[in-house]
Amino acid sequence: MKRILTGDRPTGRLHVGHYAGSLQNRVRLQHEYETFIIIADVQALTTHFEKPEMLLKNVFEIAIDNLSVGIDPNISKIFIQSMIPQIAELTIFYSMFVSTNVLKHNPTIKSEAAQYGYNDLTYGFLGYPVSQAADITFCKADLVPCGDDQLPHIELTRKIVRRFNSLYKPILTVPEALLGNSPRLPGIDGNAKMGKSLGNAIYLSDSSEEVNLKIKNAKTDTNRILLKDKGNPNLCTVFQYHKAFNSLESDNIMEMCKKAGIGCVACKKCLSNAMNIVLDPIREKRKEYEGNMDLVKEIVFTGTEEIRKHAEETMREIRSAMSIGYF
Ligand code: TRP
Repeated sequence: MKRILTGDRPTGRLHVGHYAGSLQNRVRLQHEYETFIIIADVQALTTHFEKPEMLLKNVFEIAIDNLSVGIDPNISKIFIQSMIPQIAELTIFYSMFVSTNVLKHNPTIKSEAAQYGYNDLTYGFLGYPVSQAADITFCKADLVPCGDDQLPHIELTRKIVRRFNSLYKPILTVPEALLGNSPRLPGIDGNAKMGKSLGNAIYLSDSSEEVNLKIKNAKTDTNRILLKDKGNPNLCTVFQYHKAFNSLESDNIMEMCKKAGIGCVACKKCLSNAMNIVLDPIREKRKEYEGNMDLVKEIVFTGTEEIRKHAEETMREIRSAMSIGYF
């Protein structure tokens, strides 16, 4: 069976952008692939090292987000990055042959650095794509469901694998990225990126009232001021959400908007309904897991224990390929 490795940083709860970009694919593919989900707490420290205590809560929030969208703990494994020290070891080995210039030019590193206002990058932040390559390769993953911002990291991983395989021994798997069905969802304010720090996200854990209110205030086509003005759905944030969460009606909405046959208020109501239909069963499951934190912890603990076995197995091969082993 081929393998999936994917995951998230525990810097906050997951939102509908994560759902459309990656979670939906994980849930769908977990029956076809052996699925490993990493809670990347070490990677979260690259931006949140001043408040490491936030990891404690968020690690389990992310676990619950994954479980409530339909990750089945009986077939998929959820694990914590820092509890697999082999990942740190592999990161160090890879870092010997990754050029710092390549990292400095990584578009995602650049845009995140701008977002956080960094001008002097820490070693850990600049190097996190190398650590991500270790996440993906220690378990020889074939496929990485992810958002398009992760593509530069997957590309780097592929380069690292090829380099490793030619330098030492061909034992690592070249992974492929798998993007979500719809293009990246913008924030409700129209910002190209939806994010916690930007305050423009709809969370999987939001109540239906919160979702309704957020959509009510979401940005539309700003050229459309009056009901009789014709809209341009391609310039409208709300329409991007229709495509992702209301695909059956989205063509119709597009036509109606273009000829001013539907107003923004009605269009938004229609979207809220569609999103709540998707989110309701997720909310139900979340409630169950939130009421049984012991079970959530048990799932993550056993997942991590099992993953560690794979990690040590691969590291043995890697150390041997590199002739590291002295006694
Ligand atoms: N960089 C990813 C994010 O910001 C999180 C992540 C860490 C990841 N390791 C990974 C994603 C491995 C896919 C595969 O969301």
